[in-house]
Amino acid sequence: MTEPVPLLDVSDLTVEFSTRRGIVRAVQHVNVKIAKGETVGIVGESGSGKSVTSYAVMRILDRAGRIAEGAVHFTGLDIRAASEDQMRSLRGREMSMIFQNPRAALNPIRKVGHQIEDVLEQHSQADSSAVTDKAIEILDQVRIARPRERYHAYPFELSGGMCQRVVIALALACRPQLLIADEPTTGLDVTTQKTVMDLIVELTKERGMSTILITHDLGLAATYCDRVAVMEKGHVVESAPSRQIFTAPSHAYTRKLMRATPRPGASLRDLLPEDEPGATPAAAVPVATNGKAGAPLLVVEKLVKEYPRKGVAGGFKQIFQRKPAPSRRCSARSTASASPSTAARASASSANPVAASPRPPPW
Ligand SMILES: Nc1ncnc2c1ncn2[C@@H]1O[C@H](COP(=O)(O)OP(=O)(O)OP(=O)(O)O)[C@@H](O)[C@H]1O
Ligand SMILES: [Mg+2]
Repeated sequence: MTEPVPLLDVSDLTVEFSTRRGIVRAVQHVNVKIAKGETVGIVGESGSGKSVTSYAVMRILDRAGRIAEGAVHFTGLDIRAASEDQMRSLRGREMSMIFQNPRAALNPIRKVGHQIEDVLEQHSQADSSAVTDKAIEILDQVRIARPRERYHAYPFELSGGMCQRVVIALALACRPQLLIADEPTTGLDVTTQKTVMDLIVELTKERGMSTILITHDLGLAATYCDRVAVMEKGHVVESAPSRQIFTAPSHAYTRKLMRATPRPGASLRDLLPEDEPGATPAAAVPVATNGKAGAPLLVVEKLVKEYPRKGVAGGFKQIFQRKPAPSRRCSARSTASASPSTAARASASSANPVAASPRPPPW
């Protein structure tokens, strides 16, 4: 009996990058098959080639990169041989991707509602009079509260979790057959991680979609994936149903990854790789504390941050208020480490219309 054609068939894929120091083989002889409706996890340490594999599938590799060997077939179509027009109509409509960093994936100077409309219009999913209603409906589907109001928001006016929902909305707007979710919950707090993952699973299952979930988080892969491929240094070292991977991992690297996952009752010593039994856990090394034992690295006291609502006069004066003056206990190092999130953003906010203005930016 002949096997049904998988939705996605990656076979013997090798991806190379030309760099100043020569050719880098980021992905080597990778095989992954995904059936319709299946959720497959790709796990592995940072730099193992998870994202590059997915960029090759979407044919969105960096200019320096190329598929050197192997083949990628999507619903039987040869991705390497497809024309740019074919790829453009495929991306977004048939296969789409949730990128690692939601804020970077969104256009910072375009309202989120308009960004969803752009995707719908590009793939003629609705006529121009209906796209606004459709975009609001999609924001509602990804559980954005007050979608009609949020349609007009810029990404900087939304929280990280909300930006991630907008990115999901963009990826699912045209009901593609394949969703590639590249670390969709990185940077979100644990509760928001779960809500976002549950949302992805609910929407993809309801539509019979297939999903590739790229993650460092083995717990996430165990919970949500039917099968898991484990990548190490550009190779898939093990690929099996989730249950098998997590109950009886066959490859030493998979066992090492599992050992490195914190779990209740485990000590730092338990997290050490098998081949370094005598090494001292990094976290056991005392942190330098500015010469004084026990002195905190950073002190934040009575910090108040306010956002003006639209139409409230004088709001800008109150955007950021710090009281009292910063404690002298803050060392130069602590001030530097605090700068992106507190003090520096405070001083930059009034000068940076994108960061502070409730109105559309002036360009
Ligand atoms: N444009 C590029 N030029 C040269 N090398 C690259 C380029 N893009 C990626 N690489 C290399 O390819 C390898 C795989 O990168 P990739 O982004 O796929 O890792 P990853 O598994 O997704 O890691 P992470 O979990 O950190 O996202 C890395 O060694 C990376 O340095
Ligand atoms: Mg990556």
